[in-house]
Amino acid sequence: MNKNLNAKEITSWVYALHADIKDAPYFEGFWPIPHGVSLNSYIVKSDKVALIDLYRDWEDAPEKMKSQMSSIGIDLCDIHYLVLNHLESDHSGFLKDFRKMCPNAKIVTTKKGAELVEKFCKAVNDNEKDFQNTAVQVVKTGDSIDLGQGVVLHFTETPNVHWPETMMTYEEKSKVLFSCDAFGSYGCVGTKENPSRIFDDECTEEELIFFEKEALRYYANIVASFSHFVKQAIDKFSSTQIKVVAPSHGLVWRKNPKRIINDYIRYAGYNTGGELEKEICVIWGSMYGNTKIGLDAVIEGIKEEGVNVNILEIPSTNASFVLGEAYKAKGIVLAMPTYEYKMYPPMAYILNLFNRKHFSGKKALRIGSWGWIGGAKREYDEAVLPLKWEEIESYEWQGLPCAEDKTTLKERGRELARQVKNS
Ligand SMILES: Cc1cc2nc3c(=O)[nH]c(=O)nc-3n(C[C@H](O)[C@H](O)[C@H](O)COP(=O)(O)O)c2cc1C
Ligand SMILES: [Fe+2]
Ligand SMILES: [Fe+2]
Repeated sequence: MNKNLNAKEITSWVYALHADIKDAPYFEGFWPIPHGVSLNSYIVKSDKVALIDLYRDWEDAPEKMKSQMSSIGIDLCDIHYLVLNHLESDHSGFLKDFRKMCPNAKIVTTKKGAELVEKFCKAVNDNEKDFQNTAVQVVKTGDSIDLGQGVVLHFTETPNVHWPETMMTYEEKSKVLFSCDAFGSYGCVGTKENPSRIFDDECTEEELIFFEKEALRYYANIVASFSHFVKQAIDKFSSTQIKVVAPSHGLVWRKNPKRIINDYIRYAGYNTGGELEKEICVIWGSMYGNTKIGLDAVIEGIKEEGVNVNILEIPSTNASFVLGEAYKAKGIVLAMPTYEYKMYPPMAYILNLFNRKHFSGKKALRIGSWGWIGGAKREYDEAVLPLKWEEIESYEWQGLPCAEDKTTLKERGRELARQVKNS
């Protein structure tokens, strides 16, 4: 464990704690995190002490949290309140142990959160006893807890960002918003030279752009299905002065909190009628290259119109990254052959995710090669119906594309690019 990892002071009564998870392959068990992810918690310390959000027992995260707490003279048993904004296991996986170590700390959460506390803390074998008696204080929008000396926690329910029980906590004196998953991102925040790094103002512009890219991938993977609720949640704070955005993953934004708030407003708009980026995301998969030859003509056409194009091959590009890129693009090209009378299976998986995450508002072109009698088109047409995309007339050919096919494909690419430009 890194001994230099200290709690970071936001104000003299609010501290950020974090654990960088570096070696886990996936988040939520299937989203790759090659750059890791941070788990952030916060201490608000006045006459009484509150811990905002907890960790999952992941790598040595709870140990890191405890050692950072001791760097500011706080022990687990000093905690009066454990505020749980969200009960997903990345923030509550350590809860059962926490309750054993700290039975007097009051858990503060929403009504739905309280139900989940019991469900996620129940005894799973005879050697364990349930911790049903630990006090849980249910809060709702408008409720607050006074920690003394003007330090007050205010609670706002923000349901379905991205679980039903979620809330955000705002500390009145420091004007820090503890937003849990909202405004979060993938990516470890500490560096080798500065393992305690956590603030936006400790990053270069290039590093901030990296975190925004990871925030968008995180959003597209995890939050996108709930964009309407994200907008409602952000609206609830429209008249609140927010000096610091303190999420449960990623950077703490104290220099420019508006930057990540505006990013999230833009992300939430991408699938709820807001403006998409005037670029084209090409997603393609091919068994023997016949589809790729036709696709090259489409790409040529797009480039001739001067529209930015981002080309992703599947399945070698993991779906998590495909979602991150495709989510923001106004234009989309899906190129795949027919496979057993249906779509090439890796593309079916991508379209399934697009549907689950409600990737709407796109202009799309689907192309592909077939060998016997086709079939991909039929499955594709059914799969995209709920998305209500505007489709350029799709194009298929048998085997290799001939010169005439290529001319048509290039023109379809140009047409899509023109529509994206003029959208
Ligand atoms: C396992 C397998 C299943 C296939 N199933 C179909 C099919 O159901 N209908 C069809 O028209 N062609 C089918 N084909 C033929 C391919 O669609 C055809 O070879 C196409 O040109 C492959 O394009 P690609 O080189 O881009 O992978 C199949 C080919 C393979 C290898
Ligand atoms: Fe979550
Ligand atoms: Fe989370």
